[in-house]
Amino acid sequence: MRIVDIIEKKKNKEILSKEEIKFWIKGIIDESIEDYQSSALLMAIVLNGMNEEETANLTESMLYSGDIIKLDMIEGIKVDKHSTGGVGDKTTLVLAPLLAACGLKVAKMSGRGLGYTGGTIDKLESIKGYNCYLSEEEFLEQVKKIGVSVIAQTGDLAPADKKLYALRDVTSTVNSIPLIASSIMSKKLAIETNSILLDVKYGQGAFMKNIDDAKKLAEVMISIGKMLGRNTVAMITNMNQPIGQAVGNTLEVIEAIETLKGNGPRDFTELCVRSAEEILVQVGMSKDIDEARNTVSDAINSKSAYYKFIEIVKCQGGDVDQIEDTDKFPKSKHITNINSLKSGYIENINSERIGKLAMELGAGREKIDDSVNHRVGFKLVKKVGDKVKKDDILCTVYHDGLLSEDWVKQLYSAYRFTEVEIGQENIVENIIK
Ligand code: URA
Repeated sequence: MRIVDIIEKKKNKEILSKEEIKFWIKGIIDESIEDYQSSALLMAIVLNGMNEEETANLTESMLYSGDIIKLDMIEGIKVDKHSTGGVGDKTTLVLAPLLAACGLKVAKMSGRGLGYTGGTIDKLESIKGYNCYLSEEEFLEQVKKIGVSVIAQTGDLAPADKKLYALRDVTSTVNSIPLIASSIMSKKLAIETNSILLDVKYGQGAFMKNIDDAKKLAEVMISIGKMLGRNTVAMITNMNQPIGQAVGNTLEVIEAIETLKGNGPRDFTELCVRSAEEILVQVGMSKDIDEARNTVSDAINSKSAYYKFIEIVKCQGGDVDQIEDTDKFPKSKHITNINSLKSGYIENINSERIGKLAMELGAGREKIDDSVNHRVGFKLVKKVGDKVKKDDILCTVYHDGLLSEDWVKQLYSAYRFTEVEIGQENIVENIIK
């Protein structure tokens, strides 16, 4: 087999066989295929696509290019969820303890933030002492013992994807549904859970800019899950504004704690609760959504989800005092209110712009080895649908440095107003099975 013939085939819109895809991925790992050849093939895939079988075959080859995390030693139903990335997305912090409080097993490996989207690991590291680097053995032991652990990704999961993603990033070949779907699913399938819930976001600041593309991506990922024997369901959620009120690491942890206690913002609570309900039904733990709703609200109202979060923090070496009294989290040097320049209803808050402005405050990293400032970020006091009068507080900024005129101008431009009352929109648009 020759890679040049495989490139030629895809250039001519032909279907690649399982063996050809395996040959390519093996060549990436043993470095017998040059980066420029992979780049050419990636571009041919971007332009000419892949059918669902080719996409599943690509996923399978990437999945078996690295370690597989086996969970057989853990009894019970093991679940996982994945979000395609959002601004203010602290769902894992709530969902992991919530699901464990409902009796499921959550062995969760998460990532750090890059660019304007945050990462669960950066958020957890706002908690003094929290150890995201358990060994695989410690991680599995903790899930066995308390039902849940959240750590940074260990091992070498889907290394072929890592190499391909780096190439895609510099060759304008990121935006392709088969490539995104296989990239995400190869890493998810490498952890042997019973089910995966995908949260596919669309809108500004999301990979998918419109709902139709988000649905297409979700359908392809579900078909990969089915072909490779994993129970996979997807939620389509909108990003017409950042999720919840908090954007920035410590602020998001505090908001997650409030949400676990039942005092979270409406949209973020809806996202967490709906995700938990769908997972309970997906794995057959609840017979329908109504039963799942009761289980989930019991876990929140009885505070068992909140206590489970405390247990996670304790087991992973974090400072429980900070969780019990969130005033103990370190604060930014300055807190500045931003007042509205006009009256009306908020129609949209540009997530991508808010994410970038948060990154400029230091909450996120531009390059992979940048450090983050856990203290800084936003509290979005007014959200989409809210009525605002001139001079009302739109948001509060937590910052260490000074806010430049241009930065504040950019912040105002993230808000779009309308004169007409538009009501509050739902964050979860669709469930695809
Ligand atoms: N996230 C991934 O892991 N891979 C992609 O290709 C896009 C988003």
